[in-house]
Amino acid sequence: MAQTLNASNSGQIRLGDLTVNRIGLGTNRITDTEAAHGVLNSAVELGINFIDTADVYQKTQSEETIGNVLAPYPKDLVIASKGGMSLQDSSAINDPEYLRQAIVGSMKRLKSDRIDLYQLHRVDPAVPIEQTATVLRSFLDEGKTRNIGLSEVTVEQIERFRKIVPVASVQNQYNIIERKHEAVLDYCEREGIAFIPWYPIAKGKAELPALREIAERHGATPVQISIAWLLRRSPVMLPIPGTLSTEHLEANVAAAAIELSKEEFQELSSFGKR
Ligand SMILES: NC(=O)c1ccc[n+]([C@@H]2O[C@H](COP(=O)([O-])OP(=O)(O)OC[C@H]3O[C@@H](n4cnc5c(N)ncnc54)[C@H](OP(=O)(O)O)[C@@H]3O)[C@@H](O)[C@H]2O)c1
Repeated sequence: MAQTLNASNSGQIRLGDLTVNRIGLGTNRITDTEAAHGVLNSAVELGINFIDTADVYQKTQSEETIGNVLAPYPKDLVIASKGGMSLQDSSAINDPEYLRQAIVGSMKRLKSDRIDLYQLHRVDPAVPIEQTATVLRSFLDEGKTRNIGLSEVTVEQIERFRKIVPVASVQNQYNIIERKHEAVLDYCEREGIAFIPWYPIAKGKAELPALREIAERHGATPVQISIAWLLRRSPVMLPIPGTLSTEHLEANVAAAAIELSKEEFQELSSFGKR
């Protein structure tokens, strides 16, 4: 019997005006396949109530599949999407009209009249942050989204956005070996902003002997220990490992119940590129 996720094992996290369990599902490889449908349905059954997508994922197929499989959504299920990238080459596009069309497209594909969390996928260096923040603010005011998030941003950029629009989450690359965003994570923790690490398990390729040893001690896998480390690292951490395997999904959810000792946490924390 697979373990499920709940408030007592994963803990919960505030995401603007929403509350979710602290392991979500990343969907950048989700397409209209039986395996993907199975993973989406199993995620909800296992207690995952945060699903992260974007218009660019599989050139809109991820959003379409989520809308087709899961809408109408269970009451507590939070769907986060992103816009502000080119569907052709993933370059940043923060042109206001492009963003307006992007959010409406996401709403249609997700079969939702309001997106729970809409994240700016990338800051476009050609557009002033204040202009983009004003567009994001208008999405909140018009009820197109409940909350706004950012992705791949610095502390200075977050602060510039926050002068104009409340920021509920930040999604930056972060995992046990890639830690260049420590300062952003610390800022989010101080400010009560959810930090959503993307690439959270480094595709299971974090080859640390300590990870293997600690995993053996817990009867777990190194991937599960790397998720447990993230959860322990900060109360605002919301990992979103992506998978197309129900077996891996169950393992990722079960990682929420692993409690690392203080020594294990410290040993693992000493690795990683900052
Ligand atoms: N904001 C951004 O710019 C940005 C950029 C990239 C990604 N993201 C988001 O972040 C999410 C997470 O990124 P990701 O790199 O984890 O997603 P991903 O691209 O789906 O890759 C996850 C990899 O880890 C494997 N895996 C998952 N669970 C495992 C387990 N328990 N044991 C062994 N292998 C396992 C998966 O293989 P299997 O399918 O075989 O399990 C897959 O190869 C994405 O889905 C997306 O939502 C955001």
